[in-house]
Amino acid sequence: MDLTLKIWRQASVDVDGKMVDYSISDVSPDMSFLEMMDMHNEQLINKGDDPVAFDHDCREGICGMCSMFINGEAHGPDRLVTTCQLHMRKFKDGDTIVIEPFRANAFPVIKDLAVDRSAFDRIQQAGGFVSVNTSGNTQDANAIPIDKHNADKAFDAATCIGCGACVASCKNASAMLFVSAKVSQYALLPQGKVEATDRVLNMVKQMDEEGFGNCTNTGACEVECPKGISLENIARMNSEYLYASLKG
Ligand code: SF4
Ligand code: FES
Repeated sequence: MDLTLKIWRQASVDVDGKMVDYSISDVSPDMSFLEMMDMHNEQLINKGDDPVAFDHDCREGICGMCSMFINGEAHGPDRLVTTCQLHMRKFKDGDTIVIEPFRANAFPVIKDLAVDRSAFDRIQQAGGFVSVNTSGNTQDANAIPIDKHNADKAFDAATCIGCGACVASCKNASAMLFVSAKVSQYALLPQGKVEATDRVLNMVKQMDEEGFGNCTNTGACEVECPKGISLENIARMNSEYLYASLKG
């Protein structure tokens, strides 16, 4: 396939960026999107040009690093896949592909398509954990019965990979889907009950301090989420928050 790429180029957060047009030839439909980007970067390097910076790590849909907004959609046109799992067979010969970074005030551009998502780390550090007694007297997890329905819901919530597509897709740049997944995975399990009140209050406080917007129930986050995280988690987080506020 021969393609035109329109890629956002920005040297750093301090300077303005712009879209730059490139042509690329002989792209195999079997390539992943990131392999196509690698091929393009090799061509830029061979010409003495600056390669396009983009994030990636596992290339297996696990790490959540590969943030790209492709033709107006986070992680591109396929559903329930990350950019690294998107394949070029989703595009046609002669297509123009517009590639931008995940845009949100709380995700400043580092360079080109790479953005700083450390705000998610700080939200997680504010409460996305359980404190475990490591003195040797820890209760065996298997000794605590957990309702199958709740175990399944907790597992589904825990599949969030922290990619930030929900923020990038939201007109308010809200992080509610991400934070609610992290709150839910503990709220549904007995091990998460001990710190439940502090967890939800602290994580929401940190989310607001980072500058993410509010949820207005548009649902774009759920559509673009590569892991199919449900809006139901936002409802659960809101009820956890209300309960914690009244208790607190
Ligand atoms: S909720 Fe979905 S889109 Fe948002 S960070 Fe988690 S995996 Fe990514
Ligand atoms: S590179 Fe890890 S999820 Fe895409």
